[in-house]
Amino acid sequence: VPIDVAQAIRQRRSTRSFQQKELPKELLLQIVEAGIWAPNGGNAQTWVFVVVTEGDRLRHIRAVSPGILGTPAAVVAICQDKELAEEKGGRLARETASVMDSAMAGENIMLYAVGAGVGSCAVLSFHKEAVRQLLGLPQAIVPELLITLGYAAEENPLPRREFQSVCFFEKYGIAHGSRAE
Ligand SMILES: Cc1cc2nc3c(=O)[nH]c(=O)nc-3n(C[C@H](O)[C@H](O)[C@H](O)COP(=O)(O)O)c2cc1C
Repeated sequence: VPIDVAQAIRQRRSTRSFQQKELPKELLLQIVEAGIWAPNGGNAQTWVFVVVTEGDRLRHIRAVSPGILGTPAAVVAICQDKELAEEKGGRLARETASVMDSAMAGENIMLYAVGAGVGSCAVLSFHKEAVRQLLGLPQAIVPELLITLGYAAEENPLPRREFQSVCFFEKYGIAHGSRAE
């Protein structure tokens, strides 16, 4: 069911409780492909996506990732080829842009998942070296962010700070007044 971008943004909630239901591989790959359309520094595209669905490997990843809650049907490791990043854009690319690129790709994946009725959660709390080894990543390729995916069993909508208190107009400290809808 196609939904618009504004809806998808508001509907995305971190899912930490999943149904024990498989994600069709075709759909899973469509969701992950949304990642490559994310903005990325200099269009360097130094990312690598590893999609894990196999039971034992998923269990091992969960075991080294305290940030994964629930039992997702899949985990996507958004990784960065740090050598390629260095080659393409030096230190700024390796240390900063590649991290931001991973976050952008992650959000794309999570928003696309919303449109497909699939829940997700970004996870940073994981053991990088252990995940690198479990996925057979070469030394230069570093997992930056995990995205869990699966059909949600529960909703947990978290509130946001008041928009007015975090968004100013023209200059810090100047309230923007009411928003035109
Ligand atoms: C960089 C980053 C790291 C995160 N790490 C974790 C994590 O390790 N475990 C987890 O359950 N959620 C993690 N989250 C999800 C946030 O907790 C969640 O987005 C936030 O509480 C807001 O809730 P919402 O996504 O439902 O709006 C992470 C989110 C981001 C952006």
